[in-house]
Amino acid sequence: MADVPLATPTLTSARLGLRPFRDADGDALFALHSNGAVMRYWDGPPWRETQRATRFLATCRRIAEDGTGARVAVVRLTDGSFVGWCGVTRWNADYRSASLGYCFDDAVWGQGYATESARALLDWAFDTLPMNRVQAEVDTRNAASARVLEKLGFVREGTLREDCIVNDEVSDSWVYGLLRREWSRSGVPASVSDPSRSETPS
Ligand SMILES: CC(C)(COP(=O)(O)OP(=O)(O)OC[C@H]1O[C@@H](n2cnc3c(N)ncnc32)[C@H](O)[C@@H]1OP(=O)(O)O)[C@@H](O)C(=O)NCCC(=O)NCCS
Repeated sequence: MADVPLATPTLTSARLGLRPFRDADGDALFALHSNGAVMRYWDGPPWRETQRATRFLATCRRIAEDGTGARVAVVRLTDGSFVGWCGVTRWNADYRSASLGYCFDDAVWGQGYATESARALLDWAFDTLPMNRVQAEVDTRNAASARVLEKLGFVREGTLREDCIVNDEVSDSWVYGLLRREWSRSGVPASVSDPSRSETPS
C-alpha cells in the first residue's frame, strides 16, 4: 500500500471529461454494472443490489486516500452525460507498477471513448507517478478490450489459463503490459486541475 494520498484528477480530452466520482453518479454506475451485455466478459456477474454502487464509490474514495490509485467518471463534454469510467489502480510504489481498468455504456461503444479516456488517464499517471509498468487483464473473448489495449500500445504477454469462473463459466485471460519507455503520449496535453503530486517521474 502506498502511504501518500493521491488526489483523483480532473482531466479533459478532445471529447470527454474525466473527473472524480460523486455520490450522484450512483444510479448511472448501477445501470452500467447491472447491464448483462456490458458485463459479459467482466470478472464478476452483473450487479443486482444498488449497494454495489455505494461500495464502488467508497472504494474510489479509499484508494485516493491511501494513494493506491485513481478511478474517474467519464462524461461526454457536449452534454455532460456519464458514459463510463476508467481507473489506474493497485499502484505499488515499490514495484512502480499499477493496473488499468475501464467500463463503458454499450450505447457508446465503438466511438473511441475507452481509448481516448484511458490515454488521458495514462498520460496523467505517467506524469504524476514514477510509474514504470501498467498491467491489464482481459478475457480472451473480449476482442474490443484487447483492441483498446493494443491501440494504447500494450503488449500481450501471456495467457492466464482458466483465470476466472463466473456463474460456473470458466474463462482464460490475456495479460497485457505497458512500460514507461513504450508509452506514446497523445501529444495533446490533457488539461489538469487539482494535481495531487508534483514529484518528477523517474
Ligand atoms: C471494451 C470497451 C471498454 C471498449 O470501449 P469502446 O469505447 O467501444 O472502445 P474504443 O471505441 O476505444 O475501441 C474499440 C476497438 O475495438 C474494436 N472492436 C469492437 N468490437 C470488436 C470485435 N468484436 N472484434 C474485434 N475488434 C472489435 C473496435 O473496432 C475498435 O477498434 P478500432 O478503433 O481499431 O476500430 C467496452 O466495450 C466496454 O466497456 N465493455 C464492457 C466492459 C469491459 O469489458 N471492460 C474491459 C474489461 S478488461
